[in-house]
Amino acid sequence: MFEKYYNEIANIEGWFAKEDAKLLFETINKLKGSASMVEIGSWCGKSLIFSALAAINNGNNCKKYSIDPFTTSKDEPNGKYETFIENLKKYDLSDKIVHIKEKSNDIGEKFNDNIEFLFIDGFHVYEYVKKDFELFSKRVIENGYILIHDVASWFGPTQLVYDIAETSDNMKILDFAGQTVLMAKVNNLSAEDKARNRDFSNIIKNKIETYNIKLTK
Ligand SMILES: C[S@@+](CC[C@H](N)C(=O)[O-])C[C@H]1O[C@@H](n2cnc3c(N)ncnc32)[C@H](O)[C@@H]1O
Repeated sequence: MFEKYYNEIANIEGWFAKEDAKLLFETINKLKGSASMVEIGSWCGKSLIFSALAAINNGNNCKKYSIDPFTTSKDEPNGKYETFIENLKKYDLSDKIVHIKEKSNDIGEKFNDNIEFLFIDGFHVYEYVKKDFELFSKRVIENGYILIHDVASWFGPTQLVYDIAETSDNMKILDFAGQTVLMAKVNNLSAEDKARNRDFSNIIKNKIETYNIKLTK
């Protein structure tokens, strides 16, 4: 089944490798459908369409959001909005995805739907991605999932995940595949969970050597 969905999106331009897609797919298969799915940063829709098709195939009719202003950091159009809209049409998803054409940090405070699956792949600057995490993780239900992309390849998401692994008392890191880290929001962490989180911070530290990223602590 995974191969079927990954092949379906093969021709969409984007940054969504097979290993990362597999982790999303396995996570989507675990969803209960009790709250929404949210993606921050959609570009041409590659990961969004993949996730939506996989969820719909499971009968998961939860609300599915995409948040992307389709502008660069200088507030200029990034040129992908029309392609994104066309791609949603092509996959018959236009009326199945709520697209919020705004910057995630700007709407995070107002976003008041509960979330079971949050995929963060927007603006990668540390302060920004950190705020994405803070604003939107508040809406994630207990045992809901948060996935952060571009870990070990971009400083912002890498430092953020490292901070979480080192200090969080309610995020349980579950996996790291490709450039995506998967965590679950829990009530509290057991000693075993904390030790596992620390193992992940070491894995991150080892992996960043390839990309020449320097963590601040
Ligand atoms: C790496 S791309 C996303 C790739 C996509 N998930 C895929 O499957 O190909 C990053 C996206 O984040 C969007 N973005 C940039 N600034 C943003 C912001 N402030 N809030 C939300 N999204 C933002 C960009 O428009 C771009 O489409």
